[in-house]
Amino acid sequence: MNPNAAHMTSPAHASPARYPLAIIGAGALGLHFAARLAGAVPVAVVARDAERAAHLRAGVEVGGQPFRADAFAATRPPLADWLIVLVKAGDTAAAAAIAERMQPVGVLSLQNGLTGDLLRAHCRAALVDQGITTEGAYRERTAAGERVQPSGAGETLLPPGFEAVAEMLVRAGLRARVEPDIARARLAKLLVNVAINPLAAIHRVPNGALLEPPYRAALDELVREAWPVLRTEGLALDLDAALARVHAVAAATAANRASMLQDVLAGRRTEIDAITGALLRMAEAGGFEVPAHRAMHALVRRIEHAAFDSPEGRG
Ligand SMILES: NC(=O)c1ccc[n+]([C@@H]2O[C@H](COP(=O)([O-])OP(=O)(O)OC[C@H]3O[C@@H](n4cnc5c(N)ncnc54)[C@H](OP(=O)(O)O)[C@@H]3O)[C@@H](O)[C@H]2O)c1
Repeated sequence: MNPNAAHMTSPAHASPARYPLAIIGAGALGLHFAARLAGAVPVAVVARDAERAAHLRAGVEVGGQPFRADAFAATRPPLADWLIVLVKAGDTAAAAAIAERMQPVGVLSLQNGLTGDLLRAHCRAALVDQGITTEGAYRERTAAGERVQPSGAGETLLPPGFEAVAEMLVRAGLRARVEPDIARARLAKLLVNVAINPLAAIHRVPNGALLEPPYRAALDELVREAWPVLRTEGLALDLDAALARVHAVAAATAANRASMLQDVLAGRRTEIDAITGALLRMAEAGGFEVPAHRAMHALVRRIEHAAFDSPEGRG
């Protein structure tokens, strides 16, 4: 029995000495995945600190149901075979250091932006890689504290080697599969993110508005600029298909606030460096000019600085 696991409950299992699966990052998506997985497999949740872990052990509302997580503080994480990292991109190095102490077989990021290299640099597990997910969830403040709401079922694509994690996700009723060409899938997701996220955040509009004037021209320009860079990296879409992919996501999520917009509105740091920053680094390496993306990066950073440098700034 893991001494850290005393006083913990999970819906269906006693706390094991070594968990088959653990999630680092007890936020919107982490708790959404954990609550679904807990019905199928013992799953540990690693929260930022002991206070948060105690709060999660006492129970939070996830998808309209009470969920008592097997929650641990980041200072005393349990051992686990497989880890899913769901902290925001800026917290990746800290999460990798926690992961290292959990002696996992494999560490899977399902974060937005490109974080795999950063994870690998700080964690020496045998298998460290990044998948993608179109599952969605958001956190809401309530009179009783907080609740997590799913914002639409999606699909999770995992890199080869993570078959065991895919199997656990499927057992929990989630759509998931191993994608042999995960690098291409990541690039297609990055294309969508570099086009929609900064533009929505800067103009403070929901995704669907980007398909209409005056934003549509900028949206398409961001796709046209990113496309040759991502093509060189292995993106499998031609330019028309790239534009169609971004338009389809904006239309399918028309009423949603992009995560970067949510971060800006909440005065939090954004994931701009893992998203647009990743594209800028690829462009520089390949000798491409991407002035519209440079402007997006600079504007979002300026918004962040205004939030953090002001006397009221958080962070
Ligand atoms: N939400 C979605 O619908 C969605 C969809 C696809 C992809 N994603 C990606 O998934 C990732 C997580 O997103 P999210 O919306 O779930 O973010 P979130 O709600 O902010 O959750 C992140 C959680 O990580 C915790 N954390 C930060 N540093 C930590 C550390 N060192 N140790 C342990 N926990 C730590 C945070 O704790 P504090 O609260 O104490 O800061 C927070 O609870 C992001 O990369 C996002 O882009 C999200």
